[in-house]
Amino acid sequence: MPEMTFASAAPDEIPISLTINGQLHRLDVTPWTSLLDLLRETLHLTGTKKGCDHGQCGACTVLVDGTRINSCLALAVMKDGAEITTIEGLGTPDNLHPLQAAFVEHDAFQCGYCTPGQICSAVGMMSEGHASTRAEIRELMSGNLCRCGAYTNIVDAIEDVMQDGRPAVREAAE
Ligand code: FES
Ligand code: FES
Repeated sequence: MPEMTFASAAPDEIPISLTINGQLHRLDVTPWTSLLDLLRETLHLTGTKKGCDHGQCGACTVLVDGTRINSCLALAVMKDGAEITTIEGLGTPDNLHPLQAAFVEHDAFQCGYCTPGQICSAVGMMSEGHASTRAEIRELMSGNLCRCGAYTNIVDAIEDVMQDGRPAVREAAE
């Protein structure tokens, strides 16, 4: 009888490259490392938050090639070659992104834990171009939960930025 062999228990790390906030990173990652854990644990970009780690809260939202995704649900190896933007890449304390400035102006956070995800998601939502009413903003931002319940102010902030850069948002009942 032929001798039985077993596959190695620990697959090798896989080399990938990612452009994160404009900077190229060459990294060796295990196949099971999520993009969220890579950002937070390896690269120490802790602006991106881990809430549920199951795709249900939106706290981990980042932009991948301009599209918003839940980084807890994405394996880092699947994003090889992608351009990632996190909250750290959107603005700086001295030069806030318009949405960051609007969130401050509209008091659109309390604890702030959901805020990086809300802002990255709003950037993605605006580039999708499907929201033109408050109700549509709410609907298209519904994947981003806020345990502090700052929803009204969050929508105010997003609407404010949209009105600056796009045709006026239609009035609609919430
Ligand atoms: S941590 Fe990713 S959706 Fe909650
Ligand atoms: S501001 Fe606290 S969870 Fe949204």
